[in-house]
Parts: sequence; C-alpha cells; structure tokens
Amino acid sequence: MATATNPDAAPDPGAASPALLDVRDLYVEFRTRDGVARAVNGVSYRVDAGETLAVLGESGSGKSVTAQAVMGILDSPPGFVTGGEIRFRGQDLLQAAPEERRRIRGARMAMIFQDALSALNPVLSVGAQLGEMYEVHQGMKRKDARAKAVELMERVRIPAARSRVGDYPHQFSGGMRQRIMIAMALALEPDLIIADEPTTALDVTVQAQVMDLLADLQREYDMGLILITHDLGVVADVADRIAVMYAGRIVEHASVHDLYRAPAHPYTRGLLDSIPRLDQKGQELYAIKGLPPSLTAIPPGCPFHPRCPRARDRCAVDRPPQYDVAPGRTSACHFWEETLRDEEPPHDR
Ligand SMILES: Nc1ncnc2c1ncn2[C@@H]1O[C@H](COP(=O)(O)OP(=O)(O)O)[C@@H](O)[C@H]1O
Ligand code: SF4
Ligand SMILES: [Mg+2]
Repeated sequence: MATATNPDAAPDPGAASPALLDVRDLYVEFRTRDGVARAVNGVSYRVDAGETLAVLGESGSGKSVTAQAVMGILDSPPGFVTGGEIRFRGQDLLQAAPEERRRIRGARMAMIFQDALSALNPVLSVGAQLGEMYEVHQGMKRKDARAKAVELMERVRIPAARSRVGDYPHQFSGGMRQRIMIAMALALEPDLIIADEPTTALDVTVQAQVMDLLADLQREYDMGLILITHDLGVVADVADRIAVMYAGRIVEHASVHDLYRAPAHPYTRGLLDSIPRLDQKGQELYAIKGLPPSLTAIPPGCPFHPRCPRARDRCAVDRPPQYDVAPGRTSACHFWEETLRDEEPPHDR
C-alpha cells in the first residue's frame, strides 16, 4: 500500500507544481521608422496541461505577437521583448540559451498557423514533410517515418491517408491542409500547442470540424492548447477560459461560462453583442463604434475609452489596473461592477 513514506507513492496532488506555461507581465515592442509600436503591454496568462485558453481580440490587438514571443519566433528586429517572463514548466524561456529554446520549440511546443499553404513546403509531399519530423528529431529510418506519417494522417482523420501520403499540399482542400498542419504540430507529441486563427480561412462547416478535431486531440493527448481567434463564436464550445485582448493588454480574463453569462468589461460586452444570434434573425447587428488605436499612439487612461459606451472623465486619464472580479477572474475596467450587473451607463459624463 502506498503511504506518505513510500518513495514510490504518487506525488501529492496538493503540492504546488509550476504551470505548463506561465506568461507574466510580458512587454513587446516593434521599433520601426514610424515609431515604436507597443504591441504587448503587460500580458499575463497561464495554461495547464489538458486545458484550453482562448485568446480573443480584434485584429492588431497583440494576440499573435504574444504567441510569437512564447514560441521564440518573434521577428527581431524590429520586435523586442522588453519585459516580463515566459515560464515553461517553471523554466524562464527568455533566459534560456538559443539552442535550448530551439529544442523546446521543436519537441515540447508547436504552433499551427492560419495559412497552411504558406506554412507547408509546396514541393515536398505531405508524407515527406510529416516523416521528416521523425527522421530529424528521432533519427527514424525513412520507411518507418513514412508509416508514422500515415498513422498521423489517420489520427487527424484524413480520408484514404495511405493512398494520399505522396500527394502535395496543393492537392488537398483547405480543411484537409489544416489537418495536415495539425498533424505536423502533433508529430512529436508536444505538451503545448498554440493555434493562431487555425480556422479563419475556412468556411463555417469546415471550421467547426477542424475545431472539434483540435478539441478531441487536446483531450486525447492531455495537451495545453492556446486558441487565438478574433471570433468569439468559434471558441465557445472548446475553450475553458478566455483572455480578451485590446491594444496589447488583457482586458478581461474569465471562464467561458462566466464571460458569456455576464461580461465584466464593456469591450467584451461589445464583442458578445456583435455575434449574430439565431434567435434575433433580421435584427441589425451591434458593432463597436470606431477602430482599435494605433499601437504607436495608445490613448492615455483606459485605451478603450474613445470607443467605450460607459466611458467617463476618469477613464481618459486613469489607466485601470486588473481588478479581481472573482477568484481566477479579472477585468481592467474601473466600472466592472456596473458592467457585470449590466446597468445602463450614466448619461452625464
Ligand atoms: N513584423 C512586425 N513589424 C512591425 N510591427 C509589427 C510586426 N508584427 C506585429 N507588429 C505590430 O504588432 C501589432 C499586433 O500584431 P498582432 O499580434 O499580429 O495582432 P493580432 O492580434 O491581430 O494577432 C500590429 O498591429 C503591429 O503594429
Ligand atoms: S475603464 Fe472606462 S473607458 Fe475603460 S472600459 Fe471601463 S468604463 Fe470603459
Ligand atoms: Mg494574429
């Protein structure tokens, strides 16, 4: 029988273990001729094994740049990490030697991009590309690697995998190519996958299929998954938590359930209200007024204030911190309580 003194006993589940990925107060800027674009401004999030975090926000909010910093593939120059920590199983990747980062990136974390056609090699068959993962990283013989490639293609539910293993990327449909990219990412059984708008280029039915596949594989492999998207509708069924980004900051961080039930930030409210709903067919869709700010000139105070229906004088000068709304839930809005209660914003500003 296992007892506390038995060295073979299972580890104490209550013992604090480091998160799979723990990003803390990350800053990234791009130094360009047009000025300094502050793309990531103090982002913190964590992902554990077996968990899916959705990162949501309009185009240009810093979602991809954060992911690139985590993966160590930031376009540098002009991009520089200027602050924070990126801990992977407790190890700060920003302090790791380039060789170590490459090793981790190859085997322990992988990324899936929106555009499979430009991410895959057009002049190599998909079997050769998938097999190469095993040949290069595990020293497998070509014939065995090919067999593994077929196995992987079956795993991601590509029909007739055995007969299609010699086909080239352009011979597959968009949805099937995306599955091939998922297979590439899965090959070495990473602990973490970052999927950056993996279904944006696909039509709605195929989107749902690819999203379901990702969710199934994430459970099967007990991976951490970061799902980046600008489309709140896509992630509702598959994510555990959502971090909403605006102008390089996380403005709300909550469980999917809480966030959908009652958002605690006016920006999240706006995003929710702009999703088409079946029960409101024919009604005009809400759209958040205005555009996201230029990252070379982020407004003072709350960066969302020029667009916010609840904004008051204070919002233009006083930058909101991350308020604790509930355990594990934050909002960067001074007026999160009235937002949560969905009270009418005051008219006198
Ligand atoms: N290679 C680059 N060079 C200069 N600026 C960049 C580069 N990549 C990203 N940026 C800046 O970072 C901002 C955020 O980009 P990104 O993270 O890709 O947004 P998204 O939320 O759409 O993924 C961009 O709007 C741009 O200002
Ligand atoms: S702090 Fe003010 S401007 Fe910012 S989201 Fe809240 S109410 Fe709107
Ligand atoms: Mg992006």
